[in-house]
Amino acid sequence: LFVVITEKDRVVSVLPNTKLQLHTTRSWEFMGLPQNRFYLPPERDIIVGVLDTGIWPESESFNDDGFSAPPAKWKGICQTASNFSCNNKLIGARYYNSEDLYGVKEFKSPRDSEGHGTHTSSTAAGRDVAGASYLGLAQGIARGGVPQARIAVYKVCWSSGCAMADILAAFDDAVADGVDIISLSVGSDFPAQYFDDPIAIGAFHAMQHGILTSNSAGNSGPRPRSVSNIVPWTLTVATSTIDRKFVSQVVLGNGQTFTGNAINPFDLNGTSFPLIYGGSAPNVSAGVSADFSRSCRTGSLNSYKVQGKIVFCYDFEDGHGVIEAHGLGNIMADSAHSDFAISYPLPSTLLNIEDGEKVLDYIQTTDNPIGTILASDTWKDASAPRVISFSSRGPNPLTPDILKPDVTAPGVDILAAWSPVAPPSIYHEDTTRVKYNIISGTSMSCPHASGAAAFVKAAYPDWSPTAIKSALMTTAYVMDARKNKDAEFAYGSGHINPLGAIDPGLVYDASEKDYVEFLCNLGYNSSTLRLVTGDSSTCSGNRTGNAWDLNYPSFALSIPDGQSIKGTFQRRVTNVGSPNSTYYATVYAPSLLQVFVEPSVLSFSSKGETKSFTVKVSGGVIAQQPIISGYIAWKDGVHVVRSPLVVYTVLPNDPIPIGKAPGSFESPPMRHRNGIFGHI
Ligand SMILES: *[C@@H]1O[C@H](CO)[C@@H](O)[C@H](O)[C@H]1NC(C)=O
Ligand SMILES: *[C@@H]1O[C@H](CO)[C@@H](O)[C@H](O)[C@H]1NC(C)=O
Ligand SMILES: *[C@@H]1O[C@H](CO)[C@@H](O)[C@H](O)[C@H]1NC(C)=O
Ligand SMILES: *[C@@H]1O[C@H](CO)[C@@H](O)[C@H](O)[C@H]1NC(C)=O
Ligand SMILES: *[C@@H]1O[C@H](CO)[C@@H](O)[C@H](O)[C@H]1NC(C)=O
Ligand SMILES: *[C@@H]1O[C@H](CO)[C@@H](O)[C@H](O)[C@H]1NC(C)=O
Repeated sequence: LFVVITEKDRVVSVLPNTKLQLHTTRSWEFMGLPQNRFYLPPERDIIVGVLDTGIWPESESFNDDGFSAPPAKWKGICQTASNFSCNNKLIGARYYNSEDLYGVKEFKSPRDSEGHGTHTSSTAAGRDVAGASYLGLAQGIARGGVPQARIAVYKVCWSSGCAMADILAAFDDAVADGVDIISLSVGSDFPAQYFDDPIAIGAFHAMQHGILTSNSAGNSGPRPRSVSNIVPWTLTVATSTIDRKFVSQVVLGNGQTFTGNAINPFDLNGTSFPLIYGGSAPNVSAGVSADFSRSCRTGSLNSYKVQGKIVFCYDFEDGHGVIEAHGLGNIMADSAHSDFAISYPLPSTLLNIEDGEKVLDYIQTTDNPIGTILASDTWKDASAPRVISFSSRGPNPLTPDILKPDVTAPGVDILAAWSPVAPPSIYHEDTTRVKYNIISGTSMSCPHASGAAAFVKAAYPDWSPTAIKSALMTTAYVMDARKNKDAEFAYGSGHINPLGAIDPGLVYDASEKDYVEFLCNLGYNSSTLRLVTGDSSTCSGNRTGNAWDLNYPSFALSIPDGQSIKGTFQRRVTNVGSPNSTYYATVYAPSLLQVFVEPSVLSFSSKGETKSFTVKVSGGVIAQQPIISGYIAWKDGVHVVRSPLVVYTVLPNDPIPIGKAPGSFESPPMRHRNGIFGHI
């Protein structure tokens, strides 16, 4: 996020480098949301609530120059403890510490000592800041999705985690304070029943009050069923690349050049330095063998040999081992070579194993091997957008017939504001201090979706959270399944498209009543239901036992292995486009599926009019099908209202619908984990 690609007059010899145009913040440009907007919804009345590690209020991204007083609907407060203050951009801040998670280096205030909350807040709604960079890299204008909107922060996370009670309290405060959108880049590694999940419950309360919650899908990919934050009333956001990648090259004394992934701001000025292999420099007196020092782990290297040299290491490390042995740089090679770049505390790059072996061969066969690591450059990534390896994948582990994640958004190597007391690299003891940092995660894509949701909310303040979510899903850019083998289980409906989302044509709306029916259909009784709703709702009448009738903007059908395909979905769409319009159903279904949409033509004569339709899906016996992808699109000649349709197999004899999929049984309930949430 937040980046200009500056043109450099340099020739790249290793890979073709397609020139990028000068742009402001790259991720929003990449999504088609320009800095100078031809359409400007009134963002100034929009308040984005961010539940995270707090915020650095003095960051330029939250400067309130030119901002008027907060909108009248704002009812929140600013907890000004320990030198923390708000302004007309950052209008509210609270912090929570019910489990006494406060650590020694942390602030007993909404102030962010981690960097994470400052990063996510500025991604969603930071103002335009010229000249932002990470130590000179990715220089340009930093901006959030809704730069004119207001921010309210709720510090629920500390370095050791985020307490469930605090998450719930923050949701309820944010609702009462009057926020419009909630952004929460936090989740558990284990699926919990919705009535046991503070994010599911808090987001339900938000939904009851007209507020959409945008959540990160988690960083546990590419493992199937790893997706978290899976309730249907929130937007679950996966992470994909933008068309810019950071590379850092190694040039050996023999002229060989290799390209690695790293965010390397350190310039060795092209000077070559002696190279050494970590496996040739074990700290023998400390009892270390070459098998251990080859990875350059902490405590493994002999500083007499390594001092002043660039060290080649197998495996990915944080740089501590090389730094403590007074090494000057670090060339790593890892078989799990990452598809994104990371920051290190010293000149570093990460090669794939084949290139690493060539470097090692040069070191071992050359007298006085030398080489250098070049400072990072930004290259065009023609394969973008591609869902990143770590982004958690579907299918939905609890409710297999609700497709998750919902959408994907940029979250790879994103530049945004940072806390100047937090280490910027992966090395926890890094003493470098920066105001902007480049990091990756579904934590970074979630606030992009939150910003896009705020953009839609600004255009249509009266839309329900579900209508906003539907608009973001049905207008998403279609992703390329050839580059993403998990297809919809990686990217859901597709890549978020903020400008498209303000003209969706039709929306799949749903209200609290629909979600209550959904939970009742899944087998909830009145007591478990009330744990979620917080009110006196009841479950009565017949239960279908399935999720097909929730008015969801996508379609998922899980079939027990070895059974035939059969499912019927009830849906209704509301016209938010031209009053008089006629939509025709277009179905794409692979040969294994028969899909009938009835009726296949929907005519509207007014705005707000709603029409129902049925989707019948059938087919023969299937077994061991990871995913069969199709789609249903309503078209009126102007709009394409597209919903993915996926069919896949699950274990036989498994009661498909009732909120407990195979794989979830062994997971410890979250309350056994001291009420502390894992942080993503
Ligand atoms: C409060 O923060 C400001 C800005 O960072 C700093 O200049 C000032 O010294 C701080 N005061 C205290 C008491 O920490
Ligand atoms: C590279 O050049 C800069 C500016 O001349 C200097 O500050 C820096 O120390 C040099 N770095 C190395 C590794 O020689
Ligand atoms: C070897 O390891 C010990 C213990 O960590 C450390 O004190 C010593 O400095 C190391 N020796 C060298 C030559 O790096
Ligand atoms: C409601 O469901 C929960 C969880 O399945 C169960 O423990 C509880 O006994 C049920 N309550 C009633 C009144 O059936
Ligand atoms: C509930 O199910 C029963 C038995 O299948 C059926 O007779 C009855 O009509 C159903 N009631 C409703 C409201 O659908
Ligand atoms: C919509 O169509 C109806 C009937 O064809 C017509 O009477 C009406 O004027 C049209 N409204 C608009 C806004 O075009």
